Amino acid sequence: MQLKIALLGGDGIGPEVLAQSIKCLKAVEETFNHRFEYVEAPVGAVAISNMGKPLPNETLKLCREADAILFGAIGALEYDNNPEAKVRPEQGLLRLRKELGLYANIRPIKMFPALLKNSSLKEKVVAETNMVIFRELTGGIYFGEKKISPDGTQASDLCSYSEGEISRIAHLAFKAAKKRRKKLTLVDKANVLESSRLWRKTATEISKSYPEIDFECLFIDNAAVQLMMKPSKFDVILTDNMFGDILSGLGSVIIGSAGLLPSASIGEENAMFEPLHGSYPQAKGKNIANPLASILSAAMLLQHFGLDEESNAIVAAVHKSLFKKVVTSDILGSSKYGTEYVGDFVAENIVDSEENRKINEENIGLGKSTII
Ligand code: IPM
Ligand code: MN
Repeated sequence: MQLKIALLGGDGIGPEVLAQSIKCLKAVEETFNHRFEYVEAPVGAVAISNMGKPLPNETLKLCREADAILFGAIGALEYDNNPEAKVRPEQGLLRLRKELGLYANIRPIKMFPALLKNSSLKEKVVAETNMVIFRELTGGIYFGEKKISPDGTQASDLCSYSEGEISRIAHLAFKAAKKRRKKLTLVDKANVLESSRLWRKTATEISKSYPEIDFECLFIDNAAVQLMMKPSKFDVILTDNMFGDILSGLGSVIIGSAGLLPSASIGEENAMFEPLHGSYPQAKGKNIANPLASILSAAMLLQHFGLDEESNAIVAAVHKSLFKKVVTSDILGSSKYGTEYVGDFVAENIVDSEENRKINEENIGLGKSTII
C-alpha cells in the first residue's frame, strides 16, 4: 500500500516521540513491503514563533491532502502561564480538528499484562481493563461562543450540541460495541445540563436500532468514580468533548503511565493519530520521554487502513519491550533506557512472525482487533 503521511511534531517532546513512530513505520514498510511518503509541517508554539500562527495555511493544506496525519504534542509553558495570551498553541490543534471535521476521537484504554503492577490502583481492580472511549471532538464547550466582559471580570463558554453532531458519533460507538463486548455507556450530566439531555434523548433513541447492545447512561461524577473503582465494567464509553477529555485522562492512571495511550481522530475525509499525553516541556530534548503512546498511535493509523497484521506487529513489539523491561523511566524508575533506545528496540522487533499471526487469529476469534 502507498500512503502519504503528514508529520506534525509540534511542541515539547512531540518531535522526539514522533521520530520513534517513524522508525516503526519504516520498519513496517520494509517488513511488509509498503511505501509510505512522509511530509513534515509546523504546528503549535513552534509555528507561532516562526510563522505567527499556530496552524499555518500550508500545514492545513498538507493535512487535507495527506492520507493520514501523525501528530506529536502541543503546548508550551510560556502560554500555560499566561492566561492573557490571545494566540495559543492549542488553537492550532483545535482548528485542525474542526477544519478537517475529525469529530470522533477514539481512545482505547486496555491494560498491558506486563504492567499490572504499575497502576496507581490495585492490581485486581485494573487487571481486566479493556475499554474504548468515543469522545466527540469538534463540538461542545470547546467550540461554543466564548465571551469576556470589557473589564475582564466575567467570562463564559457556551456548550452547544445538535442532534446531528450527537448521532453521527453515537452510531460509530454503537457499531464498535457490536464488535466488542456489546455494552455501551453514555456519560453525561443530564440532571443539570440541557445539552446533556439532548445527548441522552438522542443516544437512547439510537440504542433502539441496536437491540443487542446493553445500553446504560451514567452521570459524569458517577462515571469518574466507577472508572476508578471498577474499570473492567466498561466496554464502550460514548461522551462529549469535555467529559471525554477528562475521563480519558483518568485512563492513564489505570494503565500506569501517561506515556502509553494512543488515539485516533476520525472524520469523513481525514484521519489523525495522536498520543493522549501533552507536550511535557520539562522533558524536551532530554531523551527521557516515553515514545510508546506515539508508536501505538502509528499502529492505530495502520489499522485504520486495514493493515491489521502490520498494526499487530507494532503492538506485539511494544508488548515485547514492556515484558523485557526495555522502557523509559516513567514505567520503571531505575531504567537506563531513553526515548531513542526504546524506539529502536520496538522498530527492530517488528517482524512478520507466527507469533503476530497468533495474536491476530485470537483477536479475530474474539471478534476484536488488538488495539480497539
Ligand atoms: C487532548 C488534549 C487537548 C484537548 C488539548 C491539548 C487542547 O488535552 O487531546 O486530550 O483538550 O483536547
Ligand atoms: Mn486531554
